[in-house]
Amino acid sequence: MPLVPPYIETLRPYEAGRSVESVRSQYGLSRVAKLASNENPLGPSAKAIEALTRSLASLNFYPNGGLEIREVLATEFELKLENVIAGSGSEGIMSNIIRTFLGDQDEVLTTEAAFIGFQVLARSRGVKYRTVPYRDWHYDLAALAQAINPNTKIIYLANPNNPTGTIFTKHQFDEFYKHVPERVLIILDEAYFEYAKDNPRYPDSMHYRYDNVITLRTFSKIYGLAGVRIGYGFAHEELIRNLLKVKLPFEPSTPAQAAGMGALADKEFVHRSLELNARGLRYLVEGLADVGLTVIPSEANFVMAVLPSELEVNRLFEELLAQGVIVRPLNAFALPHCIRVSTGTDEENRLCVEAFRRSYAASLGTSRAG
Ligand SMILES: Cc1ncc(COP(=O)(O)O)c(C=O)c1O
Repeated sequence: MPLVPPYIETLRPYEAGRSVESVRSQYGLSRVAKLASNENPLGPSAKAIEALTRSLASLNFYPNGGLEIREVLATEFELKLENVIAGSGSEGIMSNIIRTFLGDQDEVLTTEAAFIGFQVLARSRGVKYRTVPYRDWHYDLAALAQAINPNTKIIYLANPNNPTGTIFTKHQFDEFYKHVPERVLIILDEAYFEYAKDNPRYPDSMHYRYDNVITLRTFSKIYGLAGVRIGYGFAHEELIRNLLKVKLPFEPSTPAQAAGMGALADKEFVHRSLELNARGLRYLVEGLADVGLTVIPSEANFVMAVLPSELEVNRLFEELLAQGVIVRPLNAFALPHCIRVSTGTDEENRLCVEAFRRSYAASLGTSRAG
């Protein structure tokens, strides 16, 4: 259709993973574990629900653009209000970054198979999208630095990275940063920051308050609030000032802002979520390696496994589904031979590893028989 620009025509709409309800009814199962979207299996924190519920009485009023949560975040992270932005999830802010800073001739640069949300946002702007291959499933920061050209405007780095779960270290980032001109904006996407922050080699970007770095974080992961859409960012006040011109004036919504503030205050919930995740990661990595899969060591709340082929991924996905375990095949990320499995509750992790075992025992049986 001539009305649609070619760079939109070639995009594919986001495909949400299967819901627990649809899998339960399709296969007549009593238990289903959704381990496909890196959500918090503990649910939202009680304090977040309380705060959100309290906010409902004022739904007749327009929201205040995230002012209160920006103030709370500024205090929490010892910044000025002018350095903080809040939005409808970190993807909401990412979308504003794309609209604010990219001109038609600008290019974006990132790794191959980067977080799908960023891929879609950048491609939908119609600018040139360039990538550098992974090196052993990590960002190849040296190659990225070399790939910067006069048109490069945004470099997108997720740390930890989705879907690989790997991180780049302080040392690697310091080296990389030396090669990045000031005219290039670095998006440091730290959606999984809380899971990695205690690793002494992890570069907490709050310690890198460079003028051309914007940090994005979210309440969707460890804070268990993916459903309300609340995320935040930190940057130089000039960057934030311009982002605030472009962002929709009434995002985030009032309940989202309230939930975020409630969640931020619930340190015990975050602590419990971290412990559960650490246990779950160990269990999943060992369990999946035990059935013979190549599993990439992860610093987030999910693990990626590399399979021999896309065919094998599809077979496994269907078999796991039939056993009530929803995982994420990574064809949309352009890694069709890989799957990603999020950590769940202890019970869900057990169900998951058992399902993998059964599926692999069955496939060995089949190939022997065949
Ligand atoms: C690396 C990365 N960034 C951003 C997001 C999106 O976060 P939000 O829900 O805050 O938009 C995700 C979600 O999966 C992610 O994996």
